Amino acid sequence: MNVIEAVKKRKSIRGYKPDPVPKEVLKQILELASHAPSAMNTQPWEFTVLTGDILENVRRSNVELLNSGALPNPEHVVVGWPRESIYRQRQVDLAKQLFQLMDIPREDKEKRAKWLERGFRYFDAPAAIIISTDRCLSESGPLLDIGALIQTICLTALHFGLGTCIEDQGVAYPEVLRNYGHILDSKRIIAALAIGYPAWDFPANKVETEREPIKNFTTWLGFD
Ligand SMILES: Cc1cc2nc3c(=O)[nH]c(=O)nc-3n(C[C@H](O)[C@H](O)[C@H](O)COP(=O)(O)O)c2cc1C
Repeated sequence: MNVIEAVKKRKSIRGYKPDPVPKEVLKQILELASHAPSAMNTQPWEFTVLTGDILENVRRSNVELLNSGALPNPEHVVVGWPRESIYRQRQVDLAKQLFQLMDIPREDKEKRAKWLERGFRYFDAPAAIIISTDRCLSESGPLLDIGALIQTICLTALHFGLGTCIEDQGVAYPEVLRNYGHILDSKRIIAALAIGYPAWDFPANKVETEREPIKNFTTWLGFD
């Protein structure tokens, strides 16, 4: 697969086959992804890779906290778009598409709650990668580097027939990850990635997100 194919093919996968991902494959992906650029080659990232019983414990605790009404407590806040903004509108468009594909009517609170749980369960992927950074660094400094890293993981995963979903839901309860993943307080937990072999017949995997034409957000200067 060439780079252009990979960029076009990558999409968020929200339904996985139960087949485990061999550790050797995950290792290769992370080694390749660690070639991602970072400011002054600082490489401000750390991986915690979860599978098996430990991942099951994390899933269970996340869902317990969610259903207990515990407020998410992320160490890197992603959610929060101004209500009248185009950003909020795009989020609503995505949710509508997902709910339609998953046959979740707007008023069906139970089905909506079950769908929400899936995100906190890493969409039942056989593995999850938690990405953290060092608290001695500034809060925003490592984020560009980690963004480049995450996209590199997602693209590299395709080479091995794997799908991914970047998730802020997966790090909404950092205390769970610190407990089961032994992540030190000196690390700031930034994002999770669900990773596994896509279940292509899972309805949510059929979602086709749209992109704004680049003319709407690009200024060209100095061209004739
Ligand atoms: C920082 C970040 C956080 C995300 N968190 C979630 C999440 O918690 N749950 C989810 O279902 N998707 C999550 N996504 C996936 C986005 O919804 C997805 O990338 C976007 O809708 C574009 O769709 P695509 O990835 O299929 O191209 C996240 C993506 C990013 C970059």
